[in-house]
Amino acid sequence: MSESNLPDYRVQSEAVRDRFARIKKRPVTMEVAGLSKTFQSRHGTVTALKDINLTIHKREFVCVIGPSGCGKSTLIRILAGLEQATEGEVRLDGKVVDKPGPERGMVFQGYTLFPWLTVKKNIMFGLIESGYDKGTAEAEARQWIELIGLSRFENSYPHQLSGGMKQRVAIARALANKPKVLLMDEPFGALDAQTRSKMQAYLMEIWKNIDVTVFFITHDLDEAIYLADRILVLKANPGEVQEVIEVAVPQPRHPEQFLSPEFIATKKRLEELIHPPKQEDDDDHLNLVRMVPVNDEVGSVF
Ligand SMILES: Nc1ncnc2c1ncn2[C@@H]1O[C@H](COP(=O)(O)OP(=O)(O)O)[C@@H](O)[C@H]1O
Ligand SMILES: [Mg+2]
Repeated sequence: MSESNLPDYRVQSEAVRDRFARIKKRPVTMEVAGLSKTFQSRHGTVTALKDINLTIHKREFVCVIGPSGCGKSTLIRILAGLEQATEGEVRLDGKVVDKPGPERGMVFQGYTLFPWLTVKKNIMFGLIESGYDKGTAEAEARQWIELIGLSRFENSYPHQLSGGMKQRVAIARALANKPKVLLMDEPFGALDAQTRSKMQAYLMEIWKNIDVTVFFITHDLDEAIYLADRILVLKANPGEVQEVIEVAVPQPRHPEQFLSPEFIATKKRLEELIHPPKQEDDDDHLNLVRMVPVNDEVGSVF
């Protein structure tokens, strides 16, 4: 499809418009209000986040995208209660967040499973922490293991699993505690492309069936469009909101939509926001003048 034929990324079909209208009528789950975060370092003050405002409704899927260093991880750590804001606040169901809590499940890129516990015990861990007796926790963990298709591995240790399997366990472990919000910081970033797309489809499938709001950080544009209802686009230095995009691709999502006009139009917009046109004096390019084209001339080598 030529670019001139693309619809505007903001144009929504009636079904998509209705869906957003319905989402906005749902109760607010998480509210980020006037949030700023500065760090003091040897080099002075770093403004990691500046005046972030966002209202997330129940069961919404929000993706965050932005260049490296724009404050994505800082933001999610504040939502998790692992880091304090310098200004502003985060509210979950109206209550101010100031520490981690079981109503927020977390899945981060580095595998966060306990290496000394089996799959089953990893999932049981949080349940026992929140007061389940061992028998109930075990039964509950088994159901989750079945749901993620890893029954054969319930007594395996994390090092015996593939990267994708480990992240399935991490997702199950986070969801077993029935959190209101699932916080995910580049959870599939370390996986190969094929496993990654399987995990995306898998997460969509779980999200369709579970009452959970998802806040998902990625630097992969396709991943953000495929998964998100809305995409929060941040810019760096300081980390500010550039735009919040309502993704016009209809739900439920399926991989064929990667080629749909709405998908491509949204991707083009994200590319404009994330990789603005290069400046003339930009020296970030290969110095091709110094290279000798080889073309197909390989004969002399042999
Ligand atoms: N604990 C810290 N101390 C000092 N600076 C930090 C700290 N954590 C993050 N930063 C700085 O804040 C900015 C945002 O970092 P981060 O949230 O990790 O970005 P992202 O996840 O988008 O790559 C960066 O400039 C980073 O160096
Ligand atoms: Mg990060």
